[in-house]
Amino acid sequence: MRTILIVGNWKMNKTASEATAFMRGLLARVPAQPANLELVVAPPFTALESVRLALGASSPIQLGAQDLFWEDHGAYTGEVSAPMLKDLGCRYVIVGHSERRTLFGEQGDLIQKKIRAALKHGLRPILCIGETLAQRDNGTTDHVLTQQVHDGLSGLATEALATITIAYEPVWAIGTGRASTGENANAVVKDVIRPALAALYGDQTAQAVRVLYGGSVTGANAAEFFAQPDIDGALVGGASLKVEEFLAI
Ligand code: 13P
Repeated sequence: MRTILIVGNWKMNKTASEATAFMRGLLARVPAQPANLELVVAPPFTALESVRLALGASSPIQLGAQDLFWEDHGAYTGEVSAPMLKDLGCRYVIVGHSERRTLFGEQGDLIQKKIRAALKHGLRPILCIGETLAQRDNGTTDHVLTQQVHDGLSGLATEALATITIAYEPVWAIGTGRASTGENANAVVKDVIRPALAALYGDQTAQAVRVLYGGSVTGANAAEFFAQPDIDGALVGGASLKVEEFLAI
């Protein structure tokens, strides 16, 4: 059985001190977890250390980063590498978020380099894919998602897929308050994303990969997504910034 994974992507929000205060609030209220649930927070790079300190050694919450660079070290001004994230206690790293794709021009080849760098250093990549509104409207959603899966994941060792998560985030649903429905998102995962994985790695592997939904997930609609057979959790933006709302999810 695939374990439910809920990831809070803070994006460019919270200073290190704000992160510490938030984590204190969250940890004081987070319930004992059922065995089949994993919780992750992904703060900005600058708050990773303070969140790690707040979590302590045996926390029910794990640490993730929002991006990484593919080289281990060197003359890459402004970049952060997998070994740096690993050393800070990160277990997960988000790769290819639609904001990286749109605002920073990240594309297939570059995204796969990041996936490979994460895997090389034992970080678990969360590959984000999703169609824009225009792509949905002109009927190319299936093609776009299949291509994004292919670009991000083709040619990896099959065993690597055991540590990879996909986040299906329709771009039109991100930050808009217009989430997809559980039924529609499930259909995309079942009929497009898992078949794209199966074409690369076979059906058994495709069925074992966790696929999250992301895009305007809140306490009010999360249960609808978690009830779907092909959706294994959520990548949460805005609602992960408030203790009450994140707890509700
Ligand atoms: P929102 O939950 O704010 O729509 O953001 C989703 C997202 O992009 C998470 O990575």
